[in-house]
Amino acid sequence: MEMIALLVLIMKTGTTVSGWSVTFENPNPCALKGSSVEFSCSYNYSNGEIVSKTAWSKGQMKSGIWIRVALSDLPLYQNRSEYLGDQQHDCSLAIHDLQVEDTGHYYFWFDTNMYGRRSKTSLHLYVTELSARVYPKTVRAGDNVTLECGVSCQLFTTVWFKDGRPVAKPGFQAQAEDAGNYLCAVEGNMAMQSDPVALEVQYPPCNVSIEVSHPGRLAEGSSVNLTCSSAANPAAHSYIWYRRNISSSGSPLQVGVEHMLFLPSVEASDTGLYLCQAMNSLGGNNSTEVLLTVGASYFNHFIFLVGIGVKVVIVVLLALVVIWAWRCRSNHSAVDKKEHDNDYENVTTA
Ligand SMILES: *[C@@H]1O[C@H](CO)[C@@H](O)[C@H](O)[C@H]1NC(C)=O
Ligand SMILES: *[C@@H]1O[C@H](CO)[C@@H](O)[C@H](O)[C@H]1NC(C)=O
Ligand SMILES: *[C@@H]1O[C@H](CO)[C@@H](O)[C@H](O)[C@H]1NC(C)=O
Ligand SMILES: *[C@@H]1O[C@H](CO)[C@@H](O)[C@H](O)[C@H]1NC(C)=O
Ligand SMILES: *[C@@H]1O[C@H](CO)[C@@H](O)[C@H](O)[C@H]1NC(C)=O
Ligand SMILES: *[C@@H]1O[C@H](CO)[C@@H](O)[C@H](O)[C@H]1NC(C)=O
Repeated sequence: MEMIALLVLIMKTGTTVSGWSVTFENPNPCALKGSSVEFSCSYNYSNGEIVSKTAWSKGQMKSGIWIRVALSDLPLYQNRSEYLGDQQHDCSLAIHDLQVEDTGHYYFWFDTNMYGRRSKTSLHLYVTELSARVYPKTVRAGDNVTLECGVSCQLFTTVWFKDGRPVAKPGFQAQAEDAGNYLCAVEGNMAMQSDPVALEVQYPPCNVSIEVSHPGRLAEGSSVNLTCSSAANPAAHSYIWYRRNISSSGSPLQVGVEHMLFLPSVEASDTGLYLCQAMNSLGGNNSTEVLLTVGASYFNHFIFLVGIGVKVVIVVLLALVVIWAWRCRSNHSAVDKKEHDNDYENVTTA
């Protein structure tokens, strides 16, 4: 019973038994790569002793033996470790710009005018990186995506960004516009962020549209190109062009299978409603119909008709004038005749 009590005492107080101690405020710190960490540390010794030297060391396995190497002898720590303590009771240490290799056991030791104090207890530092995981990395539109920010110590609240903009939820149904680069960061400290991870969203063609090289009415014999474009991932790889007569309700004719429909010399019979169907491995979709008209325009017809109309009117007017002139002349002789008649009457009544 006494033995156990003594053991417990030794374990609890550690090095205090021999009249001195080293105390780490947090013996198991965890920090992010690139950040700084501070080991809060205090030490004590018997009254009358005077501290002559202090040092921090790191435990290392060398040829199967656990040894302690002073940080001052390790080039890795040259400009990154900073002793914040003193030669009284403060033995705090800061390490800046943490590297993953800084993970390990750290010891503090000090010499006094009487003894060299080598603490057996160590502080264990864990340096972790933020690692973004997008699962799965390639999805079809509508499928679920999960974002995971892997960090080995749960000290941090992490947030997500997609192409620099905050992401509302770390799980969602992917849409085409969700494709991009994702990274996670420590909330409130954007300097601490993971490498970006890309999310690819695959979807069948949408926004299928037709571009006409020469919009408007086409003269017979001229050439025109119709180009089918679409948003799709993977990009659309096959196309079908259809032409439908404006008047007839018959089924559309297939008129091409390339990305572009080239009509080198159009005829009136090419007039119709065109649509293209774009396809990739996930499906196909149709453009809206585009009207292509070949031949003289209604406006030309109109001008033509007006021309004819004007000519007809002129001819009619001329005819009327001629008729009127002729009738005028014959009326005149009639009046003359009447007048002569009157004269004759006057003569007869006189
Ligand atoms: C240091 O040790 C002395 C006596 O050994 C004790 O009185 C004092 O409280 C100790 N201080 C700390 C900070 O532990
Ligand atoms: C430490 O800093 C000094 C001066 O800032 C520089 O000359 C030296 O190369 C640095 N050493 C290491 C190991 O980074
Ligand atoms: C076709 O495209 C439209 C809009 O571009 C889209 O709303 C529709 O879902 C697509 N249809 C298919 C079968 O992908
Ligand atoms: C389709 O067009 C709409 C409207 O212009 C746009 O908001 C959407 O992002 C487009 N879709 C794709 C996959 O480009
Ligand atoms: C149509 O495309 C072909 C081949 O790309 C090109 O040679 C021709 O100049 C284009 N014609 C018009 C009217 O854009
Ligand atoms: C696209 O148009 C063609 C021809 O009109 C038709 O057969 C097909 O069903 C259409 N596809 C879709 C997805 O609307």
